[in-house]
Amino acid sequence: MPKQRPDGPDAAESPDSATSGDASGSGVSRRGFFGFAAVGAAGLAIGGAGGAVTANALGRAAAPASGQQIPFRGAHQAGIVTPAQDRLHFASFQLLRSTDRAGLVALLRDWTEAAEQLTRGRDVGETGAVSGPPLAPPEDTGEALGLNAANLTLTFGFGPGLFESEDGTDRFGIRDRRPAEFEPLPSFAFDLLEPELTGGDLCVQACADDPQVAVHAIRNLSRIAMGRARIRWSQLGFGRTASTSTAQDTPRNLFGFKDGTANLMAEETDELPRHLWVPEDHPQAWIRGGSYLIARKIAMTIETWDRASLREQEQIVGRTKGEGGPLSGGGEFDSPNFAAFSSDGGPAIAVDAHVRLAHPDSNGGVRMLRRGYNYVDGNNPLGQLSAGLFFICFQNDPATFVRVQRALKTDTMNEYLRHIGSGIWAVPRGIAAGEFVGQALFE
Ligand code: HEM
Repeated sequence: MPKQRPDGPDAAESPDSATSGDASGSGVSRRGFFGFAAVGAAGLAIGGAGGAVTANALGRAAAPASGQQIPFRGAHQAGIVTPAQDRLHFASFQLLRSTDRAGLVALLRDWTEAAEQLTRGRDVGETGAVSGPPLAPPEDTGEALGLNAANLTLTFGFGPGLFESEDGTDRFGIRDRRPAEFEPLPSFAFDLLEPELTGGDLCVQACADDPQVAVHAIRNLSRIAMGRARIRWSQLGFGRTASTSTAQDTPRNLFGFKDGTANLMAEETDELPRHLWVPEDHPQAWIRGGSYLIARKIAMTIETWDRASLREQEQIVGRTKGEGGPLSGGGEFDSPNFAAFSSDGGPAIAVDAHVRLAHPDSNGGVRMLRRGYNYVDGNNPLGQLSAGLFFICFQNDPATFVRVQRALKTDTMNEYLRHIGSGIWAVPRGIAAGEFVGQALFE
C-alpha cells in the first residue's frame, strides 16, 4: 500500500464517506509525502534521500488552500453529479490482445488503488515520485508534486467490446452480463466519425480544477496499464460547458452561449433515479446504481459562426446570448414557451432551434446529465482553430441520447458542427470500501 502521511486525512476521513470536500485536507498535497520521508522513514531514507532532501531544501509552501478532495468511494462513482470541475482529461483505452480476464481484473484492481491515492492528492505506488530506489524509475511520474487534489474525480466506464469482441468472441467470459440496452451507438445523420477517435474497451474521465492534476492522473493510469491496455484516443478540455449543481454559475461554450442552463442537476434528487441512475431492479446487478457515459467530440466551425449575426445565432440556439433566457421571454431559468409567437408572427423559438429539438417536451420527457468541456486542439493549415465541444452525457439508458441526437437531425446548429469522435461506456455503480471498480461484474 502507498505510504500514509502522518498528518493525512486518513484517520479522520472514512474512505466511503458520502460527503464531499475536506477543508482540513486543503493542505494535503504530495508535499506531505516528503514530510513522511523526512520524519525518518528509515527504509526510504537511502532511496528517497535525494528527493526528500531536495524537496525540503526547496522549501515549497503548502499547496493552495482552495483544493478539496472528492471521496473516490460511495454509492455512485464520483465525477457525475459532482459539481463539474473546470478541467478535463478524458481517455479511451484499448485492451491488448494478450490481456485475459485475470489481466483485466488485475488492471482494475491496480487502477482502483491508484485512483484512490490520486483523488487524495497523493503519489501513486509504494514510494511515489522521489522516494524510491535511485536506480529504478520512480513509481509516480512526479509532475503533480506540490499540488493538492484539486477536486480530482476519476470515473471509469466499460465499453461494449468488453462483453463481445469484434470477432464475436466472449474474451472475458462476461457476455451474459451485458445489459440488454447496452449496445454500440447507431450511426446518426451528419456523423463524420474518425475511427481513431471512436470506441474503446475502457474509459477514464479525469476532472479536476487543475489541468496538471487531471493529466497526471491519466498519465499514471496509462503507465500502470502498460502491457495490458493502451490509450486509444484522448481529449483535454479546458472549460466546463455545463453546471451539474444549482450552486454553480452557468458557463459558456465556444459559440459564446451559456450552456447547461436546463441540465439535470445534483439537487434534483427525485429526477436522478428516473433519468440518471440505473434502477435497483435492473436484471444485471452490477450496473444498478451505475449509468451510461456517452462522449462525442464535436468540432465547431467557430470562424463561420462568428460571421453569423447575433439574431441568427440566438435563433439557432433558441435563447438570448447575453442572459441565456428563452426567446419566448423571461430570464435564464424561466421555462421556454414553445407555443409563443414573436412579433413577426412566427414561433418565438424556431421549429429547428436547438433547445426546442433537445427539450424533454420534444423527446417523450427524457433527460440527460450533460458534463461536457470546451476544447481547442491547435489549428488547421488554413489558420482556423480546431475547436469544439467535447460533449459528455450520462443517462440510465443509452436510448435517451439516441432519441435526442436523432431529434437534432433538423437542428440548424448542425451547419456549424461536425461529430468526429464518439464512444459509449457502461459506468458501474460506486466503489464500496475494499472493492475494485466494477468488481460485481466479475463475481
Ligand atoms: C457543439 C454542440 C452543442 C452545442 C454548442 C450545444 C449548445 C447548447 C446550448 C447553448 C443550450 C442551451 C442552454 C442549456 O440549457 O444548456 C443547449 C441545451 C441542450 N442541449 Fe445542446 N449543444 C450541443 C450539442 C448537444 C448534443 C449532441 C445534445 C444531445 C444529443 C444536446 C442536448 C441538449 C439538451 C438536452 C439541452 C437542454 C434543452 C432544454 O431542456 O431546454 N446538445 N445546448
